[in-house]
Amino acid sequence: MKKIGQIMTAAAISMALAGSGTAYADEGMWLPSLISQRIEDMQSKGFRLDAEDIYSINQASLKDAVVLFGRGCTGEVISPEGLLLTNHHCGYGQIQKHSSVEHDYLRDGFWAMTRDEELPNEGLTVSFLERMEDVTDRILDGYVTDMTESQRDSVVKANSDALVKEVTTEGKGLRATVEALYYGNQYFLFLYREYSDVRLVGAPPSSIGKFGGDTDNWMWPRHTGDFSIFRIYADKDNNPAPYSPDNVPYTPKKFFRISLNGVHEGDFTFIYGFPGSTREYIMSEGVRYISDVSDPAKIALRTQRLDIQKKYMDRSQAVRIQYSSKNAGVANAWKKWQGEAGGIRRLGTVAAKQEYEKRFSEWAEGTGYETVLPRLDSLYGALEPYMFTQEYYTESARSIELCNFAMSIWKQFKEYGRFLGSGKASDAAVTDSAENAFFSGISKTAKSFYKDYYAPIDKESFIAVMSSFAEDLPEDFQPAYFKDGIAKYGSIAVWADSLFCNSIFTDSTRVLTLTPADSAAVSDDPAFIFGNSFAEWFAKDIAPVCKRINSEITLLYRTYMKGQMEFEPEKAFYPDANLTLRVAYGKVQGYSPADGVYYEPSSTLEGIMEKDNPEIFDYDIPQRLRDIHSEKDYGRWAVTDAQGNTTVPVCFIATNHTSGGNSGSPVINADGDLMGINFDRVWEGTMSDIVFDPDYCRNICLDIRYVLFIIDKVAGAGHLLDEMVFAGINTEK
Ligand code: ARG
Ligand code: GLU
Repeated sequence: MKKIGQIMTAAAISMALAGSGTAYADEGMWLPSLISQRIEDMQSKGFRLDAEDIYSINQASLKDAVVLFGRGCTGEVISPEGLLLTNHHCGYGQIQKHSSVEHDYLRDGFWAMTRDEELPNEGLTVSFLERMEDVTDRILDGYVTDMTESQRDSVVKANSDALVKEVTTEGKGLRATVEALYYGNQYFLFLYREYSDVRLVGAPPSSIGKFGGDTDNWMWPRHTGDFSIFRIYADKDNNPAPYSPDNVPYTPKKFFRISLNGVHEGDFTFIYGFPGSTREYIMSEGVRYISDVSDPAKIALRTQRLDIQKKYMDRSQAVRIQYSSKNAGVANAWKKWQGEAGGIRRLGTVAAKQEYEKRFSEWAEGTGYETVLPRLDSLYGALEPYMFTQEYYTESARSIELCNFAMSIWKQFKEYGRFLGSGKASDAAVTDSAENAFFSGISKTAKSFYKDYYAPIDKESFIAVMSSFAEDLPEDFQPAYFKDGIAKYGSIAVWADSLFCNSIFTDSTRVLTLTPADSAAVSDDPAFIFGNSFAEWFAKDIAPVCKRINSEITLLYRTYMKGQMEFEPEKAFYPDANLTLRVAYGKVQGYSPADGVYYEPSSTLEGIMEKDNPEIFDYDIPQRLRDIHSEKDYGRWAVTDAQGNTTVPVCFIATNHTSGGNSGSPVINADGDLMGINFDRVWEGTMSDIVFDPDYCRNICLDIRYVLFIIDKVAGAGHLLDEMVFAGINTEK
């Protein structure tokens, strides 16, 4: 490996790592601190601001108006008084927690009419990026080339911990992480200021905020009003502070002006947010595994579960409510994987990567990179049966609700056992509090489980997915416990009868009366034994092998990544997404999903009325919206569509490269003003986590004018508009 680096000067490597060079189409999730390298391209596509307006450590810039919302969404500040916008599906958990039978904010929506009515949310934080910085030298200080990977990891960890400590000492609410980019060819420090008093201000009813539900999820044309509103609070000095009634609205360094200029095909768009995870540089073998092996297997297992859920949900309103959120979770990735596998096949990505690898290998002759692909290939060969088993286990045995529940109840016994082992049992007060923790743990876990549990679904799913497990995995990759069980019972169905009939966990009364003395009732329970035997087998026979091979693969990818950059010195590389702040830019554009079909880039209220159907849960809109539509009472939000109808804009699509985590991201126009909120991608383009296709990859955005229309006309919360600043035409009220 000595020769690597002689090929390219250090300067050339750091240039390639920094992402200068030519980029194609609208692919890319760029690092904001290096955006000066792309600003000319952005400007040539219509952007009218400068790099310092996007990211600066010297002045307020757009980055100061963007937050990581919770630990998996994005949000943006839209007023000088800390008003924050994100998606309805990002604020869903908070809205749900404040809901009860008397106040069902998920169903009816919620609007704080005064600041006093804004609702605090324990555990919710938003993080502003203070700065980011290349710290590769500092993190690798002490690393020498003949170290093993685990020695290198120790160096990286020690240096990262020291750096994080150093930069977070001064100032309130500081949080820092050091993240590997390009498989550890580069390290960046991200310093955040985290605010923890974030209050719910408003949310539309789900019939607007989740309109279309899972029927329309990942699809275009779309009509979901997917937004919710929060406000950030700070102490009197504008610093982060835990919730207190004395806190005051946060004064941002920067907030977005709201564009009223509208959205037109071809308009420049810029998404500023936190995409979670992509794998753009993996080799053909890794892609083939995803599209031909992993995705199809996972889709098939989830199809079985979804069909069973649907059957019972259609029969009973109560079951439909119990399983709607679970069903949404199962369906979300299920639909995404279909688009992903289909997109990879349509594009011929495996063959295209093989061809690229052939050229790479020819070039690599004599560079030191010649062995990296063959070694990766053979590691993939070794990994595949283990990885497949891991994924299969997750989607089958790990999905049995009753077994998971039994295992979480067992945790209470383990906790209590630890307490007994600690020798503190002689102190009566301590014993009391350990017992209280035990009983309240059981009761909390049990109540939330039974509220949404319907055993016939679980049992039928058990039979379906465990039968597939028995059929689809080689015997060597099945736990002995499982093979013995099948032999003993004769069939999975008979086993399921016995397990669901004999387990105490189907009996809520029994579970709620468990005492610390009952540990045998749990450890001997068939549901517990089933879940636990699989978990032990997985931890012993499967997980360690996956972990070992995967870490060898990552190590080789570090080399392959560097090799790809040297092989194509003209190409602009961007680091894979890792939930750090990125810039993606593109334009408003329709697409053709199939021969003879063209999708326009924007949707309107007319589409909502076309879908409206009180009989179909996902399409049943509030009466208020029907009335507004029939009276065309749109006020200043009225537009004229291509057919000459007076209507209201709802959603639009664009060519930005986004991923999970970009939900809630600001969609910014050429002048840096807010034109929408990102919330999804079209399913035909979900392979963009692996390969971006400019013809099919579209992100789905909510038009900011629909948000304002809902607040103003449907919610009657127009006072919120008074604190916003508008840009463009039609600004007076
Ligand atoms: N597909 C979007 C995402 O991945 C939205 C999911 C929430 N909406 C839903 N209908 N399940 O997060
Ligand atoms: N809905 C996704 C999210 O929650 C964004 C869609 C995507 O994966 O691009 O982040």
